[in-house]
Amino acid sequence: MEANKRAMQVQRYTLGFGVMGSTVSGLQRVSIVALGAHLVMSGEFSAGMLVAFVAYADQFAQKAGALIDKIVEFRMLSLHAERIADVALAEPEQNVVSTNSGRKLNARIRLNNIGFRYSQSEPWIIRKVTLEVNDGESVAIIGPSGFGKSTLARLMVGLLEPTEGCVEIDGVDIRSFGLAGYRELLGVVMQDDSLFAGTIADNISFFDAAARIEPIVEAASMAGIHRDVSALPMGYESLVGDMGAALSGGQQQRLLLARAFYKKPKILILDEATSHLDTDTEHVINRHVGSLKATRIIFAHRKETIASADRVVDLTSFVRTESFDQDVGPSPQHDEGAQSLA
Ligand SMILES: Nc1ncnc2c1ncn2[C@@H]1O[C@H](COP(=O)(O)OP(=O)(O)O)[C@@H](O)[C@H]1O
Ligand SMILES: [Mg+2]
Repeated sequence: MEANKRAMQVQRYTLGFGVMGSTVSGLQRVSIVALGAHLVMSGEFSAGMLVAFVAYADQFAQKAGALIDKIVEFRMLSLHAERIADVALAEPEQNVVSTNSGRKLNARIRLNNIGFRYSQSEPWIIRKVTLEVNDGESVAIIGPSGFGKSTLARLMVGLLEPTEGCVEIDGVDIRSFGLAGYRELLGVVMQDDSLFAGTIADNISFFDAAARIEPIVEAASMAGIHRDVSALPMGYESLVGDMGAALSGGQQQRLLLARAFYKKPKILILDEATSHLDTDTEHVINRHVGSLKATRIIFAHRKETIASADRVVDLTSFVRTESFDQDVGPSPQHDEGAQSLA
């Protein structure tokens, strides 16, 4: 986001300086010729002098223009440096190191009284959410748009840290479990996920250099994208991302699903991962997801997807709508509205 804003700013500066430069140099030429012609007419200047003068003036303007360009570029440097700093100086993630001692894990997730807001001054997005999903169970989480489904998905994946409460895997807070180890168990498709510049095979195997083609094809078939990929001239070696083939929204979504399936995850978290698909394709994927042994948490809108889950949890049952809008700070009367569906 920040980078995009900066890029816009750079473009705007460049345009502005371009227009300014050509205006100034145009005005200067016109005035030199006018003034010179006037002096020649009144006999103070010879025609040869005028030609020489214009030539020198042009050279001066060119060099001066180049100097100004360099100064502008130099200023742009700090802008670019800030963009890099955005990335390089981003705070490293906490609690990454895994502490799992290698015991056999029960892929049971528990949201323990979770509350989250983006900052102190902003309203709670979700609060007092307690939910337990058993090993191998599939749960659909529903709720109106903007109600915090994607936020909850990010909390579950450990991309956001809960303001209150904690996310537990097999009874251990994921922060003490170690986010790296936790994420190894996960197959995730977030709502705003995108493909990376690389081949389709790379995108499915997540740039695993040692990846073999069979599991990639298997994952792609599960996600219903194998036929589309085979139809491309380069097949799994087709480039996607910035420089590659244009894929439709639904094809991208199926590739992202294939990426999640490829990992053979213990826990699958899908945030509206089939929203761009037609019902037939979605049905195929729902059937594959339904046959998995993994713990599945599916944030969804579509009736068919919801119906494919073992259990449906409605987010609106946790938060009362009026307190959702008004509650800017922790308020005691909020608490009685809390419910638990565990
Ligand atoms: N980065 C952010 N900073 C501040 N508010 C955010 C941010 N991302 C989402 N929100 C707010 O959180 C609320 C829930 O968003 P989201 O979890 O995406 O809802 P859903 O997925 O259910 O549509 C929205 O009101 C949205 O404006
Ligand atoms: Mg969402």
